[in-house]
Amino acid sequence: MKKIRWGILGSGRIARKFASDLKWVNDAELIAVGARELATAQAFAKEFPAKHVHGSYQALVNNPEVDVIYVATPHAMHHEHVLLCLQHKKAVLCEKAFAINYKQASEMIHLAKAQQTFLMEAFWTRFLPHYEKAKQLIADGKVGEIKYFYGEFGFKPVEPVAPRLFDPALGGGALLDIGVYPVFMALDLLGKPDVIDAVMTSAPTGIDEQCVVRFQYKHGAIANLFCTLASNLASGGDIGGTEGRIRFTHRMHGPTTQLEYYSGAVDTRQLIATEQAKGNGYEYEIRHVNECLQNNLTASSILTHEFTLLLMQTLDVIRAKAGIRYAVD
Ligand SMILES: NC(=O)c1ccc[n+]([C@@H]2O[C@H](COP(=O)([O-])OP(=O)(O)OC[C@H]3O[C@@H](n4cnc5c(N)ncnc54)[C@H](OP(=O)(O)O)[C@@H]3O)[C@@H](O)[C@H]2O)c1
Repeated sequence: MKKIRWGILGSGRIARKFASDLKWVNDAELIAVGARELATAQAFAKEFPAKHVHGSYQALVNNPEVDVIYVATPHAMHHEHVLLCLQHKKAVLCEKAFAINYKQASEMIHLAKAQQTFLMEAFWTRFLPHYEKAKQLIADGKVGEIKYFYGEFGFKPVEPVAPRLFDPALGGGALLDIGVYPVFMALDLLGKPDVIDAVMTSAPTGIDEQCVVRFQYKHGAIANLFCTLASNLASGGDIGGTEGRIRFTHRMHGPTTQLEYYSGAVDTRQLIATEQAKGNGYEYEIRHVNECLQNNLTASSILTHEFTLLLMQTLDVIRAKAGIRYAVD
């Protein structure tokens, strides 16, 4: 099997975790890193050796040895950087939030289709073993009809706080950074809501420090979603159905080794063990992208373009209801 040669665009915090996980995927190789400054790219390549070290994103996309690029810049830059990669026919895995709004996302997906080039949102949670297991339990009828989903994600950033978290120009705010996870799960489990309500409280920079969202469905389900950059929460979730319940005890968005399943009342709790990630958990999405590229696909059938567009459209509605605005809107 040929090696899929990865380039990384932007050498910040998540880029480091991702680079570290490439080693867990047999047919993946880190071949290049591109940063705005050569010195930053060189420092990154000292930690994660790469054959090519570029002092600009343009040089990275010009590199003919790069098959696929992981875009790891702040969300406000995803639109520009993904378009740059696609214009050079580089396959792309783009971090969440995929873009600032639906308009940007649809332009990115439109170009990927026009260029017949692979593009996927880096929604790593979708590929994690515990989440796959939860989906399997639901598909097996263990939960019955889902009537309720609760999901939360909250953390209080520690010093030095990444500027992107609170800076509106970088797409700062709780919803796009972390609220996107419970929103993703509600959409994945229940589909497009019929009614969306949302309120937020703002940080001094004007971005949403906290946001609470409610989805209602004509078929009778409700989702309650919450995110905050003001407090450290368990960041768990609950899927309640007519036949059972699945509980994510903590950090439902990241790798974990167990789920709680209840077939009835609280005393029916079963602990369901799930595979332990070898790395930080990004290896599962990397493996999926590699499989897609080995098969010459231009989109994933698991994390589809349609789903990414639904997610961005829903985030736009939530923002409109809650009063969260960015300059590009
Ligand atoms: N999937 C996950 O688990 C996860 C976790 C954390 C973050 N993320 C997502 O990943 C993205 C990056 O987050 P991060 O925490 O890695 O951010 P970060 O540490 O601030 O790194 C972002 C990088 O983007 C580059 N960049 C380009 N233009 C920039 C600008 N105008 N201002 C600041 N940086 C700029 C910089 O790299 P160079 O200077 O090297 O070019 C910088 O190091 C965000 O979209 C975030 O939502 C995902």
